[in-house]
This record gives sequence, C-alpha cells and structure tokens, in this order.
Amino acid sequence: MVDIIEKKRDGFALTRQEIDFFVKGYARGAIPDYQASAFAMAVYFRGMNKQETAWLTDAMMHSGDTIDLSRIEGVKVDKHSTGGVGDKTSLVVGPLVAACGAKMAKMSGRGLGHTGGTLDKMESVPGMNIFLTEEQFIDQVNRIGLAIMGQTAEIDPADKKLYALRDVTATIESIPLIASSIMSKKLAAGTDAILLDVKFGSGAFMKTLDKARELAKAMVEIGDELGRDTRAILTDMQQPLGCAAGNSLEVKEAIATLSGKGPKDLVELALNAGGILLEQAHIAKDLEEGKAMIQKAIDDRSGLKKLHDLFEAQGGDASYIDDPSKFPLAKVIKPIVAKKSGYVERIDSLTVGVAAMKLGAGRETMDDVIDMSAGVVLCKKVGDKVNSGDVLAYAHTNKEGFLEVYDDLLNAFEISDKEVKTHPIVWDYIK
Ligand code: URA
Repeated sequence: MVDIIEKKRDGFALTRQEIDFFVKGYARGAIPDYQASAFAMAVYFRGMNKQETAWLTDAMMHSGDTIDLSRIEGVKVDKHSTGGVGDKTSLVVGPLVAACGAKMAKMSGRGLGHTGGTLDKMESVPGMNIFLTEEQFIDQVNRIGLAIMGQTAEIDPADKKLYALRDVTATIESIPLIASSIMSKKLAAGTDAILLDVKFGSGAFMKTLDKARELAKAMVEIGDELGRDTRAILTDMQQPLGCAAGNSLEVKEAIATLSGKGPKDLVELALNAGGILLEQAHIAKDLEEGKAMIQKAIDDRSGLKKLHDLFEAQGGDASYIDDPSKFPLAKVIKPIVAKKSGYVERIDSLTVGVAAMKLGAGRETMDDVIDMSAGVVLCKKVGDKVNSGDVLAYAHTNKEGFLEVYDDLLNAFEISDKEVKTHPIVWDYIK
C-alpha cells in the first residue's frame, strides 16, 4: 500500500491491479484508515485519469452485492439526482416514463440536513412500504413499470467506508472520488441506462456550473467505459425546485404536476428528464419525441394513474393520491411577507432547505424523526414581480416559536429593482 500511495503522490497513473488491491484490502479491513486517508489525499491533489476512475468505480461496485435485474423485460432505466431542495422529480418522472412504457427500477435514499429524500416523501402516504425484497421489486417493475425502494442488499461497502473517511479527512471534493462513489452505487443497482441530474448552485452539492459539468462528464465517461448508457443534465438549484420543500407538501406538488398544474421549472425538468429516459429506453426516437410523449402522459393523466398504482402496489393508501386534501396540514402556517417591491432575483436554496429542516421537515442527524406536514411553500419564484405586502412563502410547522427561521426565509429572497431575466432550468445535456 505504501508503494501505491507513493506512486499516486508523485503523480503517476495506477494500474488496475493496484486499484483493486486498495479497494479490496480497504473493504475487508486489511488496509488501515490512515493509509486510505493518505491515498484519498493523494488522489485529491493528483487526480485520476478516465481509465483509473473507471477501474476504481468497477472495484467499488464489486465490493458488495450487485442487483440482477435480468428478469425484468426491456431496458431498465434509473434516474439519479445529486440532491437539492424541493427535488421531488423522481415522483413525477418515474410515473410519467412508466406510463409511456419504460421500466424504472429505482433505489432511493433518505434525506439528511437540508436535502430531502424520496423515501421519506413516499412515507408521508400512510402504509407505504419502501422495504421490498428483490423478488417483490422485480415483480412490481414487470407488473406496473415502476418500483422505488430503499436499499436492502449490501451495496458498495467499500464506498460506505471510504465516503465516511473522506468526510472527516477533507477529501470529499475530488471529482474522481465523487464520480466513482456515485457511479459505483448506481451501477451496482443493475439498470441498463442511467440519467444523472447534476445540480448546481446554493443548496446543491456542486456550487458552480463548471464544477457540475466536470462531475457530470466524469460520471458519463465512467458509464461509457463500463458499458452502460449514461447521460447527464445540468440543472439549476439557484432556487428550490418547484414551490414545495417538505415531505407531504412535495408529494402534493408531484400530484399537482401530474395533473397538469405543476410549477413551470418542475414541468420543464420533467419533460426533459422524462424525454431523455424514453430515448434511453428506446421508446422515443429522439428527445423531442420523448418530450411530446411525456406531455401526453401529463395531459391524459396516465402519469397520475401510475403514481396511484405505485403507492397502491407498495401498500400505501392511494386514496391520498386521488384526494390530496387528506394529507394533514401543519398547525401553524405562517406567511412570509415581502417588505419591499421589485422582482425576485434569487431564492437561496440552502437557506430554504435549512429552514424546512428546522420547521420539522428534515433530519439534523440520521436518528431524528420527521414531521411529514412541515416545510416551506414558495408563492414567488425567480423572475416574479413582488409588491411590498405580498406573501413570498408559507412556513408550515407544528413547532412553536421559530421567529429566526421566519427571518431567514424572508432573507432567502433577494429582491431587485430591475426586471429579472430567467434561464431554462436545464443548462446543458451531456451524453
Ligand atoms: N454523494 C456520494 O454518494 N458520494 C460522494 O462522494 C459525494 C456525494
């Protein structure tokens, strides 16, 4: 291991055997944390070429279980977001592509800190079971074209260990390490095609468009090297996605979007992500045809029906999907009122995400219990005109006090005197 660290420290490319030696040895405890830390720091400073990054990904992916989805007929697709605030895209795009005939087999995670998790959102519907066996998962995708579940098998133990170590050794921010960490988990989950939604801006993992592009390219290259159709879109997280941040609030927004009443940015993202996934699934011949099919699945409510089927198949009370007024509301719904007139220039996603978490919608540590009805609903988005006295957002909570959170939410809105130009949510498409 010393030789491998030294080689990387001095800027040389590693061989496949050396990378395998490190991943296998570290996963089984034969290589100590101090050597793995030195290795991660050497990679942080020296980087890795395309080939080394693919080998690292492949080794990590094979450090644990890999899911065999071959019993599902057709092209299996998956969508992954690098995380943000108000990101309920999977609950919109999954049903839409399934309604168009695609097979989406998705493993999701829980929320932590200012970002939410799809599994938590799904659990705001009573009875919802996110722990399926592999057998149930595969059967459900064959039957209704869509299943979303938590991870049960031991996927990628090498990444689990290395990610935790990187977190405490200042080595998270390395493109080859992030790209291999994300892709090894996605590849182990077994789908044929992957669409990565790489977000940038405040509240996103990547703060700038350039960094997001670098990460997206590295992940697409890994997919290419390892023989999976991998594509990426770069999307804006300079304001929260849609209007709702918080679990049942986001499920309600997903229902509204599938009913043709979604916020503009979420609809635009759904059309693009869904269109690309249909192209990847060989259902649409190109993106334009894919987008038209997605629009049709919104217009004819077949996507909404699929969301109903998803909840029903996993034991959830699907009457909540038919009648969203059944979701309980928080006791306190506090308006956040504009103190000046102008145009919304920015809504700081991180501030909104942290506020939603403090109101009860998220976890500060993995053991915290979530309040499904808590969160934030924005009434104004970037570009909107605001008059002093207008409601900018509503804070939903069952907690008392929290005046500082209300101030934070007000301050999250930057109001400009001049009209503000908006940009489409998708900034680039990498394939
Ligand atoms: N998310 C991951 O899964 N891994 C990283 O390294 C960073 C973000």
